[in-house]
Amino acid sequence: MVKDHEVRKKIRSAAWDQAQVTDSSLLLVLCADLKAWKKNPAQYWKNAPKDAQDFLVHSMGPFYEGNDQLQRDEAMRSCGIAAQTIMLAAKSIGYDTNPMIGFDPQKVGNIINLPDDHVISMLIAVGKQIKPAMPRGGQLPLSDVVFTDKFPS
Ligand SMILES: Cc1cc2nc3c(=O)[nH]c(=O)nc-3n(C[C@H](O)[C@H](O)[C@H](O)COP(=O)(O)O)c2cc1C
Repeated sequence: MVKDHEVRKKIRSAAWDQAQVTDSSLLLVLCADLKAWKKNPAQYWKNAPKDAQDFLVHSMGPFYEGNDQLQRDEAMRSCGIAAQTIMLAAKSIGYDTNPMIGFDPQKVGNIINLPDDHVISMLIAVGKQIKPAMPRGGQLPLSDVVFTDKFPS
């Protein structure tokens, strides 16, 4: 969460000067720790049944170890789920949101002191819309994106 207006101004300059970066009620930078899986993994399962803990805590290491692509996939997947939840929760209490990838991740990472083993998934501006959203840009027919059992060959 970015509260300091000066920090917001710096992020705005690294985000194509998009006004919502400084002007929204709330600015979130969704980040993930790419190495969370090996930093005390037991904390993620401490409330799980003992047999599940025994299995999961010990399987996390071998699952992610040496697989940078999977670690990054997991980070983006988890942030995507969190982002959608945040946006739906905001809407449910009367706020609008704007998920954003229009920024330079390197520059924003420097501004917020992002640790080397973390990654930024997206920004989310939260607030009250000042004008209605544009019409949807264009939607593909479901038949182009929903397949049963297998992709068509
Ligand atoms: C991955 C992604 C990144 C986006 N980045 C930006 C952005 O940087 N700035 C912006 O104004 N809109 C951005 N948008 C578009 C809006 O967040 C939003 O999707 C658009 O206003 C359409 O809203 P709707 O999907 O509810 O119709 C992005 C959308 C997506 C899917």
